[in-house]
Amino acid sequence: MSPNKKNYSIEILFPQDLIRARVREIASQITRDYENKNTLMIAVLKGSFVFCADLVRHLNFLFAFDFISLSSYEGTGAKGKIKVISNLKEDPEGRDVIIIEDIADTGHTLDFLHKELAAKNPKSVKTCVLLDKKCARVKNVPIDYSGFEIGNDFAVGYGLDYNGFFRGLPYIGILHLNGNNK
Ligand code: IMP
Ligand code: MG
Repeated sequence: MSPNKKNYSIEILFPQDLIRARVREIASQITRDYENKNTLMIAVLKGSFVFCADLVRHLNFLFAFDFISLSSYEGTGAKGKIKVISNLKEDPEGRDVIIIEDIADTGHTLDFLHKELAAKNPKSVKTCVLLDKKCARVKNVPIDYSGFEIGNDFAVGYGLDYNGFFRGLPYIGILHLNGNNK
């Protein structure tokens, strides 16, 4: 289903200013932890692209950057299977890897990525998520840096989508779909 102006509403959860402040705090934390390391940042596409773009501009150390594109979701329900749509170009072997993800929900995606990376012998792997939907967790994955914890709602905006829409919203909101499409 495609959202249109009549069949949804968005309740603002984290406004732009709050996100900006929190992203800076996380960047300071990561900068303290990663000075003088051989760091490879890995952004999980597509959802983390806005978060990443803001985060990296506040990191004050040398790092390499790569993308991996994974897909796990259709609409608001889990598909269950994770697919690599586009793989890394950099080699994680011997490097201190930081995964940047938009949201940890069930944890399947991060669990899958941790296993993929482990096979490539990185020196260390840590995970940074903008949103942590802890109450929906099925897989026990370590989250080292987290922006905000949210409840079992469907979040959109600031990179997060519903069926490909809403990624450009400058804030994060909860999507409410109305049954009636009038
Ligand atoms: P997980 O594998 O269940 O942890 O889901 C991770 C992926 O599902 C995230 O990278 C998102 O792309 C997507 N996802 C999970 N919850 C939401 C949500 O509330 N809004 C938008 N995307 C979500
Ligand atoms: Mg994602």
